[in-house]
Parts: sequence; C-alpha cells; structure tokens
Amino acid sequence: MGRKKLVRFTDNALQHNVIEEGKPFFENCKGNWQAEHFGNTNPLVLELACGRGEYTVGLAAIYPEKNFIGVDIKGARIWKGSSIALEQGLTNVAFLRTYIQNLDHFFSPNEIQSIWIIHPDPRPRNKDAKRRLTHPRFLAMYKQLLSADGYVHLKTDNSGLFDYTLEVLQKQPIKNLTFTRDLYSSLLAAAHHGIKTKYEKAFEAKGFTINYLKFQFQEEI
Ligand SMILES: C[S@@+](CC[C@H](N)C(=O)[O-])C[C@H]1O[C@@H](n2cnc3c(N)ncnc32)[C@H](O)[C@@H]1O
Repeated sequence: MGRKKLVRFTDNALQHNVIEEGKPFFENCKGNWQAEHFGNTNPLVLELACGRGEYTVGLAAIYPEKNFIGVDIKGARIWKGSSIALEQGLTNVAFLRTYIQNLDHFFSPNEIQSIWIIHPDPRPRNKDAKRRLTHPRFLAMYKQLLSADGYVHLKTDNSGLFDYTLEVLQKQPIKNLTFTRDLYSSLLAAAHHGIKTKYEKAFEAKGFTINYLKFQFQEEI
C-alpha cells in the first residue's frame, strides 16, 4: 500500500465521522444513526458511490437540518470528504465504508429520507448488469430502506446506464418519475446547487452531457 493511502487510512480510524469496520458503531448503526451518531431526529440522506463525497458535504452545508451519509467502499476517497467536513465543522456529515450491497445491514426499513446515486460505475458488460446500482435487486433494497415519500436521485454521464435505468423503472412500482438528458439545460439543475464531482468535471470537459432522474416508490396497498 502507498504511503498516502496508509496515512488516509490511519486518519479514517481516528476521524469520528468515518464509520468503518473495527469501530463499535459499525456493528450497531442499524436504526441508531439519528439518536446515537447525530444526536438528533433529523432526516437521513444517503449519497451512494460517494467517492470523495462532494454531494454529502455540499448538501450538508446547505441543509443543516438534515443528516448526510456518504457510502463507498474506498477508504482513501471517503477520507477526502470526511476531512473537508471536519475542516468546515459540519456535524451533520458521516461516511460509511461498506459495499452498497450490504446497506440493509446498516439501516432499518424506512430509516432513510432520500438517496442520491452520483455517477456510479456504469458496468456496461451484460454479465455485470447485477452490479449496476439501479439493477432491480438494488432498487428492492432502496424501497425497503426509504420512508414512504422518499426520493431516489440518479446522476450519470453514461447514457447506457441511464437508458438501462429508465427501462428497469418501467417495470417497477414507482411514481413521479422526472428526468432530463441534459441537466444543465434543465430547471432540474437547481436542486443540485452547482455541486459537481471530480468525476463529473472530467466527463463534462470531454463534452458529455449529464443525465439526471428522480422518482419515488409507490406505497404498498
Ligand atoms: C465512478 S466513481 C464515482 C465517484 C463519485 N460519485 C464521483 O462522481 O466522483 C464510483 C464510486 O463507486 C464506488 N463503488 C462502486 N461500486 C460500489 C459498491 N458496490 N459498494 C460501494 N462502493 C462502490 C467506487 O469505490 C467509486 O468510488
């Protein structure tokens, strides 16, 4: 392991806003985020595949009345968002280092108010479809974890993943689907508050437009 990565992993172990294996709360967070980690009853917002956590930190600064949790498996990336949140004194930010497949080990049903999926890996090979974060198996888990009025937001530069997601959603019990294939020419951009991730900036510079959609799940009758 490189020295830089080692330093970041050592920091993560000490930074209280990073929840990862080996820390007591990692084993005990399900259903306890508000009371035990944040010490309030504010709604929980997740950023999945958060990388450096630009949405987690950016939205947390704008919405202090909500709690934001970035989820990613890569500790060295999470370190960046965690460190910026600490520098900015943002107490409504946490990062959970885990695989998104395991989200239901860390959150109770209805515990989450909304989910942002920001430039996830597109996984273009057919054999990897199950690993796409908008595959039906992930959607089933999001539905269980979200509160009744919760929104799922997807932002991606990848039109293949976007088309795939729209196709999947046609067969899902969802409502209030809104989408654009060019976010920055759309009124929907306002909800993003100008937040752009490092990954997004790189793709925009290559001329890609940014796709965005949001939807809610239908309530069970
Ligand atoms: C293309 S990068 C995008 C990162 C960031 N959202 C951005 O826009 O810069 C995808 C991120 O998803 C994370 N990731 C991919 N699959 C994952 C999974 N199953 N569980 C947790 N993290 C995952 C990777 O570690 C990586 O940081």
